[in-house]
Amino acid sequence: MDKELIYLDNAATSLPKPPAVVEAVTEALKTAGSYHRGGGKTGEKAEDILYGLRHRGASFFGAPGPEQVILTGNATQALNLAIKGMAGEGSKVLISGYEHNAVTRPLHALKHRGVKTQVVASPLFDRESFLRNFRAALWEKPDLVVLTCVSNAYGWILPFREAAELCRRAGIPLILDASQAAGHIPVGIMPGVAFLATAGHKGLFGPGGTGLLLSSGKFTLPTLLEGGTGNDSRNPEMPELPPERYEAGTPNLPGAAGLGKGIEFVESVGLSKIRSHEMELSACLREGLWRIPGVVTYAALDPRRQTGVLSFNLRGVDPMALAQKLAEMGLVLRGGLHCAPMAHDSAGNPGGTVRISLSVFTRKGEIDEFLYRLRGAIKT
Ligand code: ALA
Repeated sequence: MDKELIYLDNAATSLPKPPAVVEAVTEALKTAGSYHRGGGKTGEKAEDILYGLRHRGASFFGAPGPEQVILTGNATQALNLAIKGMAGEGSKVLISGYEHNAVTRPLHALKHRGVKTQVVASPLFDRESFLRNFRAALWEKPDLVVLTCVSNAYGWILPFREAAELCRRAGIPLILDASQAAGHIPVGIMPGVAFLATAGHKGLFGPGGTGLLLSSGKFTLPTLLEGGTGNDSRNPEMPELPPERYEAGTPNLPGAAGLGKGIEFVESVGLSKIRSHEMELSACLREGLWRIPGVVTYAALDPRRQTGVLSFNLRGVDPMALAQKLAEMGLVLRGGLHCAPMAHDSAGNPGGTVRISLSVFTRKGEIDEFLYRLRGAIKT
């Protein structure tokens, strides 16, 4: 990466990727043939890549088996598959006020089926208020709950474990959106969770165009796409069994190879080391931002409730315009609504924010340089 660039947009796409990820993608491009569709060494390589990813994904996320690990093009596809499959005609779906458009838009698209969405309102970082309102909403017997583990806009770690336990006790299926949690904090198929969707290209360090849907194995979903699977070819319908049921068409093998190595990297460094690095840098970032006049920082009082995603605003300045100005100074971050307008409305910030997002590769010197350039940008 360009030495002058300071990359602080890891919540969108993590950069850099570990070298093993890059090597695995290149190797797959050179050696992997068709998954389930060709024999010989190239076909075997393809099987190894995809089943390698499934095994690793199952153990990392606690899925009941490798066949419950479905490769998708991104978290959005994984969420569409789970949400559209689980939200039946006329059903009532409970969500938090901090969901991404990858949750709210599929639900909106189901209005024609009479699907109704109820939002559990709560102020930003207020887990007690969220849980109180969530408990009350469960009494109204929703058919399904969809919940983000971490707000992509504010890094707030919602009380998703407690929510999963409440869903388990109430017997209401829960879909977790772990896109901003995976690779940063522990998350998986815990009791109460029916499906877990995640992006591959963020905290898991996979290539763009990868995502996973992990299933508890308790539900069979209708398919979103139908086509070739390389097996059961005389069946006019998609195979009954996962994962092929949900993977029509040739899979993204270079992506799968990279994602498998990305998860291996996260496992080898360890979530606790990744988390403590991100928390340490977040503390420097928060303190630095607090010292800059005019900057409003959205930080949890208890830093344990926040990941390495931090939003801020400069009073009286449009966040998109500020992000653009910072980009011209070599600071890569994201300004605006971050595809999550609902989160900003819930936080009382309808105009959005400028968002900084860290990774285990972010260095303390980069945070200092970011703060220095930000001060410069504000003065000019
Ligand atoms: N959802 C991604 C983000 O938060 C793209 O930036």
